Amino acid sequence: MNKHTVAIQFIVITVLALSIYSCKHKEDEYHNVIEKIEAKSKEYKGVTVSSESYFDNIELIEISEDGTSFLIPDRKNQIQSYACTECHSKPLQDMENTDLKKAHWDIEIVHANENTMNCTTCHNPENMDNLKSLTSNHIDFNASYQLCSQCHTKQFEDWKGGAHGKEIGGWAPPRASLTCVNCHNPHNPAFGTKWPARFNTQKIKERK
Ligand code: HEC
Ligand code: HEC
Ligand code: HEC
Ligand code: HEC
Repeated sequence: MNKHTVAIQFIVITVLALSIYSCKHKEDEYHNVIEKIEAKSKEYKGVTVSSESYFDNIELIEISEDGTSFLIPDRKNQIQSYACTECHSKPLQDMENTDLKKAHWDIEIVHANENTMNCTTCHNPENMDNLKSLTSNHIDFNASYQLCSQCHTKQFEDWKGGAHGKEIGGWAPPRASLTCVNCHNPHNPAFGTKWPARFNTQKIKERK
C-alpha cells in the first residue's frame, strides 16, 4: 500500500463516518419539512377537522346561489306569527277595513322611505306565507336574503363569498353562515351609532 491509497482510504472512511453521524439525529429533528409533516401527521390518521360540532341546536338548510352552496339557519320556525295564513285567510283589504284589532302595531318601517317601500314591497298580500320580489315572484321566508339582494347587491355578493356576515363554527367545512335577518331586523335594519368609550382628560388634570 502506498501513501496515496492510504490517504484515499482515510478520506472515504471519514466521509462515511460523518454521514452516519449526521443521520443520528434526535427524535424531533427531520431532514426536511415534508418528512416532518409526514411523521407528525401519523398521529392524526382518521381525524378530520369539521365545523359540525358548532351546529348542535341550530336547524340548518342548504342553499345554492350561482354555484355556491352552503348552509344557513332555518327561519320559519323562528318567526313568531308564522304561519301568517292562520289569520291572513282573506285579502288584506278586507282585513284592514274591518274593526279587527290592529295586529302588527309594533312593526314600523325604519328602512327606506315610503316612496321606495311599504309592507307589500316585501310581503305578498295574495299569500302572506311567502315574501315577494319586486316583480311579484314568490320568495320563501327561508330565502329572505334573495329579497335583500334585489337592492343590496354588494352586501349580497360579499355575503355569498363569506366576507359580509359571520360563519357559524369556523372555516372548516361544512360551511354554514348566518343569514341577513339573523343580524338585521328587516323592518329596521341599520345598527345604531356606537361611540367609543372616552378617556376623560379633565379628570386626569384635576387629579394632578
Ligand atoms: C293573529 C293574527 C295574525 C297573524 C298570525 C298575522 N297577521 Fe298580519 N294582520 C292581521 C290583521 C288583523 C291585520 C289587519 C289589521 C292591521 O293592519 O293590523 C294584519 C295586517 C297585516 C299587514 C298589513 C299592515 C298594514 O299596515 O298595511 C301585513 C303586511 C301583515 N299583516 C303581514 C303579516 C305577516 C307577514 C304575517 C306572518 C309572518 C302575519 N301578518 C301574521 C293579523 C295577523
Ligand atoms: C324590506 C322588506 C320588508 C318590509 C318593507 C316589511 N317586512 Fe315584514 N318581514 C320581512 C322579512 C324578511 C321578515 C322575516 C324576518 C325573519 O326571518 O325573522 C318579516 C317578518 C314580518 C312579520 C313576522 C314577525 C314575527 O317575528 O312574528 C310580520 C308580522 C311582518 N313582517 C309584518 C310587516 C308589516 C306590517 C310591514 C309594514 C309595516 C312589514 N312587515 C314590512 C320583510 C319586510
Ligand atoms: C326595495 C329595495 C330594498 C330592499 C328589498 C331591502 N332594502 Fe335595505 N335599504 C334600502 C334603501 C333604499 C335603504 C336606505 C338607503 C341607505 O341608507 O343606504 C336601505 C337601508 C338598509 C340598511 C342600512 C344601511 C346603512 O347604511 O345604514 C341595511 C342594513 C339594510 N337596508 C338591510 C336590508 C336587509 C337585511 C334587507 C332584506 C331583509 C333589505 N335591506 C331589503 C332598500 C332596500
Ligand atoms: C353576522 C351578522 C350579519 C349578517 C349575517 C349580515 N350583516 Fe349586514 N351588516 C352587519 C354589520 C355588523 C354591519 C355594519 C354596521 C355598521 O357599520 O354600522 C352591516 C352592514 C350592512 C349594510 C350597511 C352598509 C355597509 O356595508 O356597512 C347593509 C346594506 C347590509 N349590512 C346588508 C346585509 C345583507 C343584504 C345581508 C345578507 C345578504 C347581510 N347584511 C348579512 C352584520 C351582518
